Amino acid sequence: PASAVVVLAAGSGSRVGAHRDGTPVNKVLLPLLDAPVLAHSVRTALATPGVRRVVVVARPGEEAQVTEALVPHLPADDAAPEVALVTGGATRHASEWAALQVLVPWVAAGEVEVVAIHDGARPLGSVALFSAVLAAAAERGGALPGVPLAGVVTADGQAGPSGLVAVQTPQAFRADVLLAAYDRAAREGFEGTDTASCVEAMAEGVRIAAVPSTSRNLKVTFPEDVALADRLLRHAP
Ligand code: C5P
Repeated sequence: PASAVVVLAAGSGSRVGAHRDGTPVNKVLLPLLDAPVLAHSVRTALATPGVRRVVVVARPGEEAQVTEALVPHLPADDAAPEVALVTGGATRHASEWAALQVLVPWVAAGEVEVVAIHDGARPLGSVALFSAVLAAAAERGGALPGVPLAGVVTADGQAGPSGLVAVQTPQAFRADVLLAAYDRAAREGFEGTDTASCVEAMAEGVRIAAVPSTSRNLKVTFPEDVALADRLLRHAP
């Protein structure tokens, strides 16, 4: 489908505990193999068939650093999708909202039918995973990657395999559904913890399909995650 991808990079990433000259460094800017964490995420979005537009959301004041981290790693190819940079907000939801405003004219013109929202801190999402999620969203209304949780114990004391899934990103939705859900959220002052939780609450009746994923699509949260991501990147899936 004709798609746009939002890559979120406006978190503080403070749990990673990285510092430069005494100030905390956003985890998405940490080096990983040949490029910063965020550049891996953006490159995958750009390489996914059907993606026409990528919107990167930077923390207020970090716009120049984010541009510097990305530009050397973007495809030189003129046919590559456009990358826009916007300034995010205090919460993940506010950052998503900022990016969606950029996409409104594209959606209105019919040039973007499906929008995926991805954590910039997930550098190992594959083109195959992006493609599967975008295709499922076009067909079903919404889709997200899920990893079955085996061996967990649920709140009611049942042992797994449980039918529980760990939810990842990219999470994709039909653009009209997503924009309507976020407009309603803005009117009602609602914020979800992730994109799917907002759409579920604000766009009743939308079906969100789970696309099988694996723990390889990890989110860099703690310092040791960067080393793990590095090892995984060196090994083909
Ligand atoms: O902090 P956490 O890892 O849960 O954040 C998930 C993603 O959301 C990260 O890629 C982070 O940069 C992004 N985020 C954002 N704006 C915020 C908070 C988080 O773009 N205000």
